[in-house]
Amino acid sequence: MIVFGGIILRSMFAHIFVGFLLCMSIPAASAKVRHYRWTVTYELKAPDCYTKGVITINGRSPGPTIRAQQGDTIVVELKNGLMTENTAIHWHGIRQIGTPWSDGTEGITQCPILPGDTFVYKFVVDRPGTYIYHAHYGMQRSSGLYGSIQVSLPDGVQEPFAYDYDRSIILNDWWHRSAQELAAGLSAIKFVWVGEPQSILINGRGWYDCSLSANSACNNTDPQCSPSVITVVPGKTYRLRISSVSSLSAFNFEIEGHNMTIIEADGHYVEPFVVKNLNIYSGETYSVLVVADQDPSKNYWAAVNVVSRPTKNLRGLAIFNYYPTHPRLLPTAAPPAGPLWNDTKYRLNQSLEIKSHRNFTIPPPLSTEKLITLLNTQNKIEGRFRWAVNNVSFVLPHTPYLIALKHNLRHVFSQEAPPESYSVGKYDIFSKAENPNATESEALYKLEFNSTVDIVLQNANTMTANNSETHPWHLHGHDFWVLGFGEGVFDLAKDIGNLNLVDPIMKNTVPVHPYGWTAIRFVADNPGVWAFHCHIESHFYMGMGIVFESGVDRVGRLPRSIYGCGESARLRKP
Ligand code: C2O
Ligand code: CU
Repeated sequence: MIVFGGIILRSMFAHIFVGFLLCMSIPAASAKVRHYRWTVTYELKAPDCYTKGVITINGRSPGPTIRAQQGDTIVVELKNGLMTENTAIHWHGIRQIGTPWSDGTEGITQCPILPGDTFVYKFVVDRPGTYIYHAHYGMQRSSGLYGSIQVSLPDGVQEPFAYDYDRSIILNDWWHRSAQELAAGLSAIKFVWVGEPQSILINGRGWYDCSLSANSACNNTDPQCSPSVITVVPGKTYRLRISSVSSLSAFNFEIEGHNMTIIEADGHYVEPFVVKNLNIYSGETYSVLVVADQDPSKNYWAAVNVVSRPTKNLRGLAIFNYYPTHPRLLPTAAPPAGPLWNDTKYRLNQSLEIKSHRNFTIPPPLSTEKLITLLNTQNKIEGRFRWAVNNVSFVLPHTPYLIALKHNLRHVFSQEAPPESYSVGKYDIFSKAENPNATESEALYKLEFNSTVDIVLQNANTMTANNSETHPWHLHGHDFWVLGFGEGVFDLAKDIGNLNLVDPIMKNTVPVHPYGWTAIRFVADNPGVWAFHCHIESHFYMGMGIVFESGVDRVGRLPRSIYGCGESARLRKP
Protein backbone atom coordinates (compact mmCIF):
# COMPACT_ATOMS: atom_id res chain seq x y z
CA MET A 1 0.00 0.00 0.00
CA ILE A 2 1.06 3.53 -0.68
CA VAL A 3 0.06 6.12 1.89
CA PHE A 4 -0.46 9.69 0.76
CA GLY A 5 -1.67 12.33 3.15
CA GLY A 6 -3.56 9.89 5.30
CA ILE A 7 -5.32 8.30 2.34
CA ILE A 8 -4.56 4.72 1.64
CA LEU A 9 -4.19 4.09 -2.03
CA ARG A 10 -4.20 0.38 -2.54
CA SER A 11 -1.31 -1.23 -4.29
CA MET A 12 -3.54 -2.45 -7.07
CA PHE A 13 -3.27 0.95 -8.65
CA ALA A 14 0.44 0.75 -8.62
CA HIS A 15 0.96 -1.04 -11.90
CA ILE A 16 -0.49 1.65 -14.07
CA PHE A 17 -1.10 4.57 -11.82
CA VAL A 18 2.21 5.33 -10.16
CA GLY A 19 3.19 8.04 -12.60
CA PHE A 20 -0.27 9.50 -12.46
CA LEU A 21 -0.34 9.50 -8.67
CA LEU A 22 2.96 11.26 -8.35
CA CYS A 23 1.70 14.28 -10.19
CA MET A 24 -1.84 14.06 -8.80
CA SER A 25 -0.97 13.15 -5.19
CA ILE A 26 -2.57 15.17 -2.47
CA PRO A 27 -0.51 17.35 -0.18
CA ALA A 28 -1.05 15.97 3.33
CA ALA A 29 -1.82 19.34 4.84
CA SER A 30 -4.85 20.11 2.68
CA ALA A 31 -7.10 17.08 3.37
CA LYS A 32 -10.09 18.14 5.45
CA VAL A 33 -13.04 16.44 7.05
CA ARG A 34 -16.30 17.96 5.89
CA HIS A 35 -19.22 17.28 8.14
CA TYR A 36 -22.87 17.47 7.06
CA ARG A 37 -26.02 16.97 9.12
CA TRP A 38 -28.94 16.12 6.92
CA THR A 39 -32.55 15.30 7.71
CA VAL A 40 -34.66 13.69 5.02
CA THR A 41 -38.36 14.61 5.11
CA TYR A 42 -41.39 14.85 2.92
CA GLU A 43 -42.44 18.43 2.23
CA LEU A 44 -45.29 19.74 0.12
CA LYS A 45 -43.71 21.56 -2.77
CA ALA A 46 -44.59 22.74 -6.25
CA PRO A 47 -41.35 22.53 -8.26
CA ASP A 48 -43.32 22.60 -11.53
CA CYS A 49 -46.36 24.52 -10.19
CA TYR A 50 -48.10 21.28 -9.09
CA THR A 51 -48.02 20.64 -5.33
CA LYS A 52 -47.06 17.16 -4.18
CA GLY A 53 -45.03 15.41 -1.47
CA VAL A 54 -41.36 15.88 -2.33
CA ILE A 55 -38.51 14.13 -0.53
CA THR A 56 -36.17 16.85 0.67
CA ILE A 57 -32.90 17.20 2.55
CA ASN A 58 -33.05 19.88 5.23
CA GLY A 59 -36.21 21.07 3.51
CA ARG A 60 -34.70 21.35 0.03
CA SER A 61 -34.81 19.50 -3.25
CA PRO A 62 -32.27 19.29 -4.87
CA GLY A 63 -30.41 18.78 -1.60
CA PRO A 64 -27.35 20.76 -0.53
CA THR A 65 -24.32 20.68 -2.84
CA ILE A 66 -21.30 18.96 -1.35
CA ARG A 67 -18.24 21.08 -2.16
CA ALA A 68 -14.92 19.51 -1.28
CA GLN A 69 -11.32 19.28 -2.33
CA GLN A 70 -9.64 16.16 -3.65
CA GLY A 71 -8.61 13.96 -0.72
CA ASP A 72 -11.16 15.32 1.72
CA THR A 73 -13.25 13.05 3.90
CA ILE A 74 -16.99 13.56 3.69
CA VAL A 75 -19.10 12.69 6.70
CA VAL A 76 -22.86 12.82 6.22
CA GLU A 77 -25.02 12.16 9.26
CA LEU A 78 -28.26 11.25 7.58
CA LYS A 79 -31.40 11.24 9.65
CA ASN A 80 -34.38 9.51 8.10
CA GLY A 81 -37.31 11.76 8.94
CA LEU A 82 -39.67 10.15 6.41
CA MET A 83 -41.88 8.58 9.12
CA THR A 84 -43.20 5.70 7.01
CA GLU A 85 -40.43 4.95 4.54
CA ASN A 86 -36.91 3.56 4.66
CA THR A 87 -34.13 5.27 2.77
CA ALA A 88 -30.47 5.08 1.67
CA ILE A 89 -28.26 7.49 -0.33
CA HIS A 90 -25.72 6.55 -2.99
CA TRP A 91 -22.72 8.78 -3.79
CA HIS A 92 -22.69 8.34 -7.53
CA GLY A 93 -19.22 8.39 -9.08
CA ILE A 94 -17.38 8.16 -5.76
CA ARG A 95 -15.57 4.84 -5.82
CA GLN A 96 -15.62 4.22 -2.04
CA ILE A 97 -12.14 2.76 -1.99
CA GLY A 98 -11.76 1.13 1.42
CA THR A 99 -15.33 2.05 2.44
CA PRO A 100 -17.62 -0.22 0.36
CA TRP A 101 -20.22 -0.09 3.17
CA SER A 102 -20.72 3.64 2.45
CA ASP A 103 -21.89 3.11 -1.13
CA GLY A 104 -25.49 3.54 -0.03
CA THR A 105 -26.99 0.74 -2.11
CA GLU A 106 -29.77 -0.73 -0.05
CA GLY A 107 -29.79 -4.54 -0.19
CA ILE A 108 -26.27 -4.61 -1.61
CA THR A 109 -23.99 -2.73 0.79
CA GLN A 110 -26.33 -1.88 3.64
CA CYS A 111 -29.73 -2.41 5.23
CA PRO A 112 -32.19 0.41 4.65
CA ILE A 113 -32.16 3.28 7.13
CA LEU A 114 -35.35 3.00 9.18
CA PRO A 115 -37.63 5.95 9.93
CA GLY A 116 -36.19 7.88 12.86
CA ASP A 117 -32.72 6.31 12.49
CA THR A 118 -29.54 8.18 11.70
CA PHE A 119 -26.89 6.59 9.49
CA VAL A 120 -23.40 8.00 9.07
CA TYR A 121 -21.83 7.87 5.62
CA LYS A 122 -18.08 8.44 5.66
CA PHE A 123 -15.89 8.33 2.58
CA VAL A 124 -12.99 10.03 0.81
CA VAL A 125 -13.48 11.98 -2.40
CA ASP A 126 -10.29 10.82 -4.04
CA ARG A 127 -10.67 12.39 -7.47
CA PRO A 128 -11.58 15.89 -8.61
CA GLY A 129 -14.67 16.38 -10.74
CA THR A 130 -18.43 16.59 -10.88
CA TYR A 131 -20.53 13.91 -9.19
CA ILE A 132 -24.02 13.43 -7.84
CA TYR A 133 -25.82 11.75 -4.97
CA HIS A 134 -29.29 10.31 -4.89
CA ALA A 135 -31.59 7.89 -3.09
CA HIS A 136 -30.91 4.23 -3.77
CA TYR A 137 -34.04 2.85 -2.19
CA GLY A 138 -37.12 1.93 -4.20
CA MET A 139 -37.91 4.79 -6.54
CA GLN A 140 -37.20 7.63 -4.13
CA ARG A 141 -34.83 9.38 -6.50
CA SER A 142 -37.81 10.41 -8.61
CA SER A 143 -39.40 11.94 -5.50
CA GLY A 144 -36.65 14.54 -5.27
CA LEU A 145 -33.91 12.97 -3.13
CA TYR A 146 -30.78 13.99 -5.04
CA GLY A 147 -28.05 16.62 -5.24
CA SER A 148 -24.58 17.55 -6.56
CA ILE A 149 -21.04 16.86 -5.46
CA GLN A 150 -18.18 19.06 -6.67
CA VAL A 151 -14.62 18.07 -5.92
CA SER A 152 -11.99 20.67 -6.68
CA LEU A 153 -8.29 20.17 -7.28
CA PRO A 154 -5.72 20.39 -4.49
CA ASP A 155 -4.33 23.87 -3.84
CA GLY A 156 -1.85 24.93 -6.47
CA VAL A 157 -3.01 22.41 -9.10
CA GLN A 158 -4.53 23.90 -12.26
CA GLU A 159 -7.28 22.55 -14.46
CA PRO A 160 -6.15 21.93 -18.05
CA PHE A 161 -8.50 24.68 -19.26
CA ALA A 162 -9.31 28.22 -18.19
CA TYR A 163 -12.62 29.64 -17.04
CA ASP A 164 -13.81 32.50 -14.87
CA TYR A 165 -16.73 30.98 -13.00
CA ASP A 166 -18.41 27.71 -12.24
CA ARG A 167 -22.18 27.00 -12.42
CA SER A 168 -24.07 23.80 -11.57
CA ILE A 169 -27.02 22.56 -13.55
CA ILE A 170 -28.75 19.42 -12.32
CA LEU A 171 -31.47 17.92 -14.47
CA ASN A 172 -34.35 15.67 -13.54
CA ASP A 173 -37.70 14.53 -14.87
CA TRP A 174 -40.80 14.86 -12.75
CA TRP A 175 -44.08 13.02 -12.22
CA HIS A 176 -47.16 14.22 -10.36
CA ARG A 177 -48.01 10.76 -9.05
CA SER A 178 -45.99 9.59 -6.05
CA ALA A 179 -43.09 7.20 -6.48
CA GLN A 180 -45.01 4.53 -4.55
CA GLU A 181 -47.90 4.83 -6.96
CA LEU A 182 -45.55 4.59 -9.94
CA ALA A 183 -43.84 1.56 -8.41
CA ALA A 184 -47.14 -0.13 -7.62
CA GLY A 185 -48.12 0.16 -11.29
CA LEU A 186 -44.83 -1.32 -12.45
CA SER A 187 -45.17 -4.39 -10.26
CA ALA A 188 -48.88 -4.97 -10.86
CA ILE A 189 -50.10 -7.93 -12.92
CA LYS A 190 -52.20 -5.37 -14.68
CA PHE A 191 -49.08 -3.42 -15.59
CA VAL A 192 -49.26 0.37 -15.47
CA TRP A 193 -46.29 2.07 -17.09
CA VAL A 194 -45.04 5.28 -15.43
CA GLY A 195 -45.51 7.09 -18.73
CA GLU A 196 -43.66 10.19 -19.83
CA PRO A 197 -42.95 12.71 -17.06
CA GLN A 198 -45.16 15.75 -16.54
CA SER A 199 -42.19 18.11 -16.61
CA ILE A 200 -38.43 18.51 -16.73
CA LEU A 201 -36.71 20.18 -13.80
CA ILE A 202 -33.59 22.34 -14.11
CA ASN A 203 -32.02 22.90 -10.69
CA GLY A 204 -35.31 21.75 -9.19
CA ARG A 205 -37.57 24.04 -11.20
CA GLY A 206 -39.90 23.22 -14.04
CA TRP A 207 -43.20 24.34 -15.49
CA TYR A 208 -46.38 22.38 -16.00
CA ASP A 209 -49.30 24.01 -17.76
CA CYS A 210 -52.04 23.93 -15.11
CA SER A 211 -54.78 24.38 -17.68
CA LEU A 212 -54.08 20.74 -18.61
CA SER A 213 -54.93 19.40 -15.18
CA ALA A 214 -57.83 21.40 -13.69
CA ASN A 215 -56.46 20.43 -10.31
CA SER A 216 -56.38 22.95 -7.48
CA ALA A 217 -52.93 21.60 -6.53
CA CYS A 218 -51.63 23.29 -9.67
CA ASN A 219 -50.93 27.03 -9.75
CA ASN A 220 -48.98 28.63 -12.57
CA THR A 221 -48.36 31.82 -10.61
CA ASP A 222 -46.55 30.03 -7.78
CA PRO A 223 -43.05 31.57 -7.55
CA GLN A 224 -41.62 28.09 -6.82
CA CYS A 225 -42.02 27.27 -10.52
CA SER A 226 -40.56 30.40 -12.02
CA PRO A 227 -37.68 29.30 -14.26
CA SER A 228 -34.12 28.79 -13.07
CA VAL A 229 -31.81 31.61 -14.03
CA ILE A 230 -28.17 31.17 -15.02
CA THR A 231 -26.63 34.62 -14.80
CA VAL A 232 -23.45 35.40 -16.72
CA VAL A 233 -21.25 38.47 -17.10
CA PRO A 234 -20.58 39.50 -20.71
CA GLY A 235 -17.19 38.38 -21.98
CA LYS A 236 -16.57 35.83 -19.23
CA THR A 237 -16.07 32.08 -19.68
CA TYR A 238 -18.24 29.73 -17.65
CA ARG A 239 -17.74 26.15 -16.67
CA LEU A 240 -21.20 24.61 -16.56
CA ARG A 241 -21.30 21.41 -14.56
CA ILE A 242 -24.28 19.59 -16.00
CA SER A 243 -25.59 16.39 -14.44
CA SER A 244 -28.66 14.27 -14.96
CA VAL A 245 -30.43 12.27 -12.28
CA SER A 246 -33.41 11.70 -14.53
CA SER A 247 -35.57 8.71 -13.78
CA LEU A 248 -36.44 7.92 -17.37
CA SER A 249 -35.65 10.58 -19.94
CA ALA A 250 -32.53 11.11 -22.00
CA PHE A 251 -31.82 14.81 -22.38
CA ASN A 252 -30.28 17.16 -24.89
CA PHE A 253 -29.00 20.42 -23.41
CA GLU A 254 -28.61 23.50 -25.60
CA ILE A 255 -28.13 27.20 -24.97
CA GLU A 256 -29.67 29.39 -27.63
CA GLY A 257 -26.95 31.08 -29.71
CA HIS A 258 -24.00 29.62 -27.77
CA ASN A 259 -21.72 26.70 -28.57
CA MET A 260 -20.22 24.65 -25.79
CA THR A 261 -16.86 22.94 -25.41
CA ILE A 262 -17.08 19.59 -23.63
CA ILE A 263 -14.18 19.25 -21.17
CA GLU A 264 -15.17 16.79 -18.46
CA ALA A 265 -17.22 13.61 -18.34
CA ASP A 266 -17.95 11.72 -15.09
CA GLY A 267 -14.90 13.26 -13.39
CA HIS A 268 -12.45 12.70 -16.26
CA TYR A 269 -10.98 15.27 -18.60
CA VAL A 270 -12.23 15.07 -22.17
CA GLU A 271 -10.14 15.99 -25.19
CA PRO A 272 -12.05 19.26 -25.74
CA PHE A 273 -14.52 19.45 -28.60
CA VAL A 274 -17.19 21.92 -29.54
CA VAL A 275 -20.88 21.07 -29.80
CA LYS A 276 -24.10 22.94 -30.41
CA ASN A 277 -25.84 20.77 -27.85
CA LEU A 278 -25.02 18.01 -25.39
CA ASN A 279 -26.75 14.66 -25.04
CA ILE A 280 -26.80 13.65 -21.40
CA TYR A 281 -28.16 10.39 -20.02
CA SER A 282 -29.29 9.62 -16.51
CA GLY A 283 -26.31 9.20 -14.17
CA GLU A 284 -23.89 11.15 -16.36
CA THR A 285 -22.11 14.37 -15.46
CA TYR A 286 -20.36 16.73 -17.88
CA SER A 287 -18.57 20.03 -17.72
CA VAL A 288 -18.74 22.35 -20.69
CA LEU A 289 -17.19 25.75 -21.26
CA VAL A 290 -19.45 28.51 -22.53
CA VAL A 291 -18.29 32.01 -23.42
CA ALA A 292 -20.80 34.80 -22.76
CA ASP A 293 -20.04 36.44 -26.10
CA GLN A 294 -23.52 37.24 -27.45
CA ASP A 295 -25.54 40.47 -27.44
CA PRO A 296 -25.75 41.25 -23.69
CA SER A 297 -28.88 43.39 -23.98
CA LYS A 298 -31.10 40.29 -24.03
CA ASN A 299 -31.49 36.87 -22.45
CA TYR A 300 -31.28 33.42 -24.06
CA TRP A 301 -32.96 30.08 -23.49
CA ALA A 302 -31.17 27.17 -21.92
CA ALA A 303 -33.30 24.29 -23.18
CA VAL A 304 -33.47 20.69 -22.10
CA ASN A 305 -35.14 18.65 -24.80
CA VAL A 306 -36.09 15.01 -24.39
CA VAL A 307 -34.45 12.62 -26.85
CA SER A 308 -34.75 8.89 -27.44
CA ARG A 309 -38.42 8.83 -26.40
CA PRO A 310 -41.34 10.52 -28.16
CA THR A 311 -42.87 13.20 -25.95
CA LYS A 312 -45.35 15.96 -26.56
CA ASN A 313 -44.27 19.53 -25.79
CA LEU A 314 -42.03 18.27 -23.02
CA ARG A 315 -39.07 20.55 -22.50
CA GLY A 316 -37.22 22.11 -19.60
CA LEU A 317 -36.36 25.81 -19.87
CA ALA A 318 -34.04 28.04 -17.90
CA ILE A 319 -33.02 31.62 -18.59
CA PHE A 320 -29.43 32.25 -19.65
CA ASN A 321 -29.27 35.78 -18.32
CA TYR A 322 -26.69 38.42 -19.29
CA TYR A 323 -25.91 40.72 -16.42
CA PRO A 324 -27.22 43.44 -16.00
CA THR A 325 -30.21 42.53 -18.20
CA HIS A 326 -33.16 41.73 -15.94
CA PRO A 327 -33.04 38.03 -14.95
CA ARG A 328 -36.79 37.64 -15.53
CA LEU A 329 -36.80 39.15 -19.00
CA LEU A 330 -37.97 36.28 -21.18
CA PRO A 331 -36.01 35.56 -24.35
CA THR A 332 -38.03 36.47 -27.42
CA ALA A 333 -36.85 33.72 -29.77
CA ALA A 334 -38.37 30.25 -29.82
CA PRO A 335 -36.42 27.86 -27.56
CA PRO A 336 -33.94 25.56 -29.34
CA ALA A 337 -35.81 22.50 -30.57
CA GLY A 338 -32.83 20.16 -30.17
CA PRO A 339 -32.11 17.23 -32.48
CA LEU A 340 -34.89 14.91 -33.66
CA TRP A 341 -35.88 12.67 -30.73
CA ASN A 342 -35.26 9.52 -32.76
CA ASP A 343 -31.96 10.55 -34.35
CA THR A 344 -30.00 7.67 -32.84
CA LYS A 345 -27.12 8.21 -35.24
CA TYR A 346 -26.63 11.76 -33.99
CA ARG A 347 -26.41 10.56 -30.41
CA LEU A 348 -24.17 7.62 -31.27
CA ASN A 349 -21.77 9.98 -33.06
CA GLN A 350 -21.53 12.27 -30.05
CA SER A 351 -20.85 9.25 -27.81
CA LEU A 352 -18.05 8.22 -30.16
CA GLU A 353 -16.52 11.68 -30.06
CA ILE A 354 -15.92 11.68 -26.30
CA LYS A 355 -12.26 10.74 -25.82
CA SER A 356 -9.86 11.10 -22.95
CA HIS A 357 -7.86 14.34 -22.78
CA ARG A 358 -4.52 13.59 -24.40
CA ASN A 359 -2.51 14.69 -21.35
CA PHE A 360 -4.61 12.78 -18.84
CA THR A 361 -5.15 9.47 -20.55
CA ILE A 362 -4.81 6.45 -18.30
CA PRO A 363 -4.24 3.69 -20.81
CA PRO A 364 -6.39 0.59 -20.35
CA PRO A 365 -4.80 -2.84 -20.03
CA LEU A 366 -4.31 -3.99 -23.60
CA SER A 367 -6.06 -7.31 -23.13
CA THR A 368 -8.78 -8.71 -20.93
CA GLU A 369 -9.06 -11.72 -18.69
CA LYS A 370 -12.80 -12.06 -18.93
CA LEU A 371 -15.49 -11.08 -21.39
CA ILE A 372 -19.07 -10.82 -20.21
CA THR A 373 -21.79 -10.13 -22.75
CA LEU A 374 -25.04 -8.83 -21.33
CA LEU A 375 -28.12 -8.96 -23.52
CA ASN A 376 -30.75 -6.41 -22.44
CA THR A 377 -34.30 -7.62 -23.04
CA GLN A 378 -37.83 -7.01 -21.91
CA ASN A 379 -39.61 -10.09 -20.61
CA LYS A 380 -42.73 -11.28 -18.93
CA ILE A 381 -42.17 -13.30 -15.80
CA GLU A 382 -45.15 -14.83 -14.04
CA GLY A 383 -47.40 -12.40 -15.80
CA ARG A 384 -45.40 -9.31 -14.88
CA PHE A 385 -43.37 -7.08 -17.18
CA ARG A 386 -39.68 -7.23 -16.28
CA TRP A 387 -36.33 -6.30 -17.76
CA ALA A 388 -33.74 -9.04 -17.96
CA VAL A 389 -30.03 -9.38 -18.56
CA ASN A 390 -29.13 -12.65 -20.28
CA ASN A 391 -32.67 -13.75 -19.48
CA VAL A 392 -32.25 -13.16 -15.75
CA SER A 393 -34.19 -10.36 -14.09
CA PHE A 394 -32.50 -8.94 -11.00
CA VAL A 395 -34.14 -8.87 -7.61
CA LEU A 396 -32.54 -7.49 -4.44
CA PRO A 397 -31.85 -9.95 -1.63
CA HIS A 398 -33.33 -9.30 1.80
CA THR A 399 -29.91 -9.58 3.47
CA PRO A 400 -27.33 -7.24 1.88
CA TYR A 401 -24.64 -9.12 -0.03
CA LEU A 402 -21.79 -7.39 1.74
CA ILE A 403 -22.95 -8.68 5.12
CA ALA A 404 -23.93 -12.10 3.76
CA LEU A 405 -20.53 -12.64 2.17
CA LYS A 406 -18.60 -11.47 5.23
CA HIS A 407 -20.52 -13.85 7.46
CA ASN A 408 -20.66 -16.64 4.95
CA LEU A 409 -24.46 -16.66 4.85
CA ARG A 410 -24.64 -18.57 1.61
CA HIS A 411 -28.32 -19.44 1.86
CA VAL A 412 -29.59 -15.86 1.68
CA PHE A 413 -29.08 -15.45 -2.05
CA SER A 414 -28.87 -17.72 -5.06
CA GLN A 415 -25.50 -19.43 -5.33
CA GLU A 416 -25.97 -20.21 -8.99
CA ALA A 417 -23.45 -18.59 -11.32
CA PRO A 418 -25.30 -16.12 -13.56
CA PRO A 419 -24.90 -16.51 -17.32
CA GLU A 420 -21.90 -14.58 -18.64
CA SER A 421 -23.01 -14.62 -22.22
CA TYR A 422 -26.03 -15.02 -24.42
CA SER A 423 -26.26 -17.09 -27.52
CA VAL A 424 -24.84 -14.80 -30.14
CA GLY A 425 -26.32 -15.42 -33.51
CA LYS A 426 -29.33 -17.24 -32.08
CA TYR A 427 -31.06 -14.27 -30.52
CA ASP A 428 -32.63 -11.89 -33.00
CA ILE A 429 -32.19 -8.42 -31.50
CA PHE A 430 -34.43 -6.90 -34.16
CA SER A 431 -37.60 -8.83 -33.48
CA LYS A 432 -40.13 -8.49 -30.68
CA ALA A 433 -38.77 -10.00 -27.46
CA GLU A 434 -40.46 -13.23 -26.44
CA ASN A 435 -38.08 -14.92 -23.96
CA PRO A 436 -40.66 -17.08 -22.27
CA ASN A 437 -37.91 -18.72 -20.20
CA ALA A 438 -36.65 -15.65 -18.32
CA THR A 439 -36.23 -16.03 -14.55
CA GLU A 440 -35.71 -13.80 -11.54
CA SER A 441 -32.57 -14.10 -9.47
CA GLU A 442 -30.33 -12.27 -7.02
CA ALA A 443 -27.25 -14.32 -8.06
CA LEU A 444 -23.89 -12.49 -7.98
CA TYR A 445 -21.20 -12.24 -10.63
CA LYS A 446 -17.86 -13.11 -9.04
CA LEU A 447 -14.84 -11.31 -10.41
CA GLU A 448 -11.33 -12.35 -9.54
CA PHE A 449 -9.74 -9.57 -7.52
CA ASN A 450 -7.54 -7.29 -9.67
CA SER A 451 -8.58 -8.99 -12.88
CA THR A 452 -9.38 -7.09 -16.07
CA VAL A 453 -12.97 -7.48 -17.22
CA ASP A 454 -14.66 -6.53 -20.48
CA ILE A 455 -18.38 -6.12 -20.70
CA VAL A 456 -20.35 -5.85 -23.89
CA LEU A 457 -23.84 -4.52 -23.32
CA GLN A 458 -26.07 -5.65 -26.17
CA ASN A 459 -29.33 -3.88 -26.81
CA ALA A 460 -32.36 -5.43 -28.48
CA ASN A 461 -35.97 -4.88 -29.44
CA THR A 462 -38.43 -4.51 -26.57
CA MET A 463 -41.77 -6.34 -26.39
CA THR A 464 -43.15 -3.64 -28.69
CA ALA A 465 -42.46 -4.11 -32.40
CA ASN A 466 -39.86 -1.78 -33.92
CA ASN A 467 -38.82 -0.36 -30.58
CA SER A 468 -35.47 -0.36 -28.82
CA GLU A 469 -34.65 2.04 -25.98
CA THR A 470 -31.56 3.81 -24.69
CA HIS A 471 -30.17 2.37 -21.45
CA PRO A 472 -27.56 4.32 -19.49
CA TRP A 473 -25.58 1.71 -17.52
CA HIS A 474 -23.85 2.73 -14.31
CA LEU A 475 -21.11 0.87 -12.45
CA HIS A 476 -20.61 1.35 -8.73
CA GLY A 477 -17.14 1.36 -7.16
CA HIS A 478 -15.13 1.73 -10.37
CA ASP A 479 -14.59 3.80 -13.44
CA PHE A 480 -14.39 1.92 -16.71
CA TRP A 481 -12.84 2.64 -20.05
CA VAL A 482 -15.36 3.16 -22.81
CA LEU A 483 -13.89 0.98 -25.55
CA GLY A 484 -16.56 1.39 -28.17
CA PHE A 485 -20.11 1.67 -29.41
CA GLY A 486 -21.63 -0.03 -32.39
CA GLU A 487 -24.83 -0.63 -34.29
CA GLY A 488 -26.50 -4.03 -34.47
CA VAL A 489 -25.14 -7.21 -32.93
CA PHE A 490 -21.66 -7.14 -31.41
CA ASP A 491 -19.45 -9.44 -33.45
CA LEU A 492 -16.35 -10.38 -31.51
CA ALA A 493 -14.29 -11.31 -34.56
CA LYS A 494 -15.15 -8.14 -36.43
CA ASP A 495 -15.60 -5.56 -33.68
CA ILE A 496 -12.72 -6.41 -31.38
CA GLY A 497 -10.29 -4.77 -33.77
CA ASN A 498 -12.26 -1.53 -33.66
CA LEU A 499 -12.17 -1.05 -29.91
CA ASN A 500 -10.37 2.06 -28.73
CA LEU A 501 -7.37 1.11 -26.60
CA VAL A 502 -5.53 4.36 -27.29
CA ASP A 503 -7.52 7.22 -25.75
CA PRO A 504 -10.79 5.85 -24.33
CA ILE A 505 -12.55 8.09 -21.84
CA MET A 506 -13.08 6.69 -18.36
CA LYS A 507 -16.63 6.99 -17.04
CA ASN A 508 -18.99 5.48 -14.54
CA THR A 509 -22.13 5.68 -16.71
CA VAL A 510 -22.46 5.02 -20.41
CA PRO A 511 -25.41 4.80 -22.79
CA VAL A 512 -26.32 1.72 -24.77
CA HIS A 513 -28.01 3.06 -27.86
CA PRO A 514 -31.11 1.53 -29.49
CA TYR A 515 -30.31 -1.71 -31.37
CA GLY A 516 -26.64 -1.12 -30.55
CA TRP A 517 -23.88 -2.33 -28.29
CA THR A 518 -21.41 -0.68 -25.91
CA ALA A 519 -18.11 -2.21 -24.82
CA ILE A 520 -16.32 -1.27 -21.59
CA ARG A 521 -13.26 -2.51 -19.70
CA PHE A 522 -12.40 -2.18 -16.04
CA VAL A 523 -10.07 -3.60 -13.45
CA ALA A 524 -11.87 -5.24 -10.51
CA ASP A 525 -9.51 -3.61 -8.04
CA ASN A 526 -11.95 -2.34 -5.44
CA PRO A 527 -12.86 -4.90 -2.77
CA GLY A 528 -16.59 -4.97 -2.19
CA VAL A 529 -19.97 -5.68 -3.74
CA TRP A 530 -20.94 -3.38 -6.56
CA ALA A 531 -24.11 -2.81 -8.51
CA PHE A 532 -24.01 -2.44 -12.28
CA HIS A 533 -27.38 -1.41 -13.64
CA CYS A 534 -29.45 0.65 -15.98
CA HIS A 535 -29.82 4.09 -14.41
CA ILE A 536 -33.42 4.46 -15.54
CA GLU A 537 -35.12 4.12 -12.19
CA SER A 538 -38.06 2.06 -13.40
CA HIS A 539 -35.80 -0.22 -15.45
CA PHE A 540 -33.63 -1.07 -12.45
CA TYR A 541 -36.77 -1.50 -10.37
CA MET A 542 -37.96 -3.97 -13.03
CA GLY A 543 -34.77 -6.00 -12.85
CA MET A 544 -32.32 -4.38 -15.25
CA GLY A 545 -29.10 -4.84 -13.37
CA ILE A 546 -26.51 -7.21 -12.01
CA VAL A 547 -24.14 -7.16 -9.04
CA PHE A 548 -20.42 -7.90 -8.95
CA GLU A 549 -18.48 -9.23 -6.04
CA SER A 550 -14.73 -8.97 -5.87
CA GLY A 551 -12.13 -9.24 -3.12
CA VAL A 552 -14.63 -9.21 -0.25
CA ASP A 553 -12.06 -11.09 1.87
CA ARG A 554 -10.01 -7.88 1.79
CA VAL A 555 -12.84 -5.71 3.09
CA GLY A 556 -12.20 -4.51 6.63
CA ARG A 557 -14.54 -4.91 9.58
CA LEU A 558 -18.04 -3.86 8.63
CA PRO A 559 -19.66 -1.07 10.63
CA ARG A 560 -22.55 -2.47 12.65
CA SER A 561 -24.77 0.36 11.45
CA ILE A 562 -25.24 -1.36 8.09
CA TYR A 563 -26.81 -4.41 9.79
CA GLY A 564 -30.37 -4.96 10.94
CA CYS A 565 -32.39 -6.46 8.10
CA GLY A 566 -33.00 -10.04 7.02
CA GLU A 567 -30.48 -12.51 8.38
CA SER A 568 -28.24 -9.67 9.50
CA ALA A 569 -30.69 -8.66 12.24
CA ARG A 570 -29.39 -11.31 14.61
CA LEU A 571 -25.78 -10.27 13.91
CA ARG A 572 -26.25 -6.66 14.86
CA LYS A 573 -24.94 -6.87 18.41
CA PRO A 574 -21.17 -6.39 18.40
CU1 C2O B 1 -26.67 6.60 -9.59
CU2 C2O B 1 -26.88 2.59 -8.56
O1 C2O B 1 -26.90 4.60 -9.13
CU1 CU C 1 -32.82 0.87 -19.11
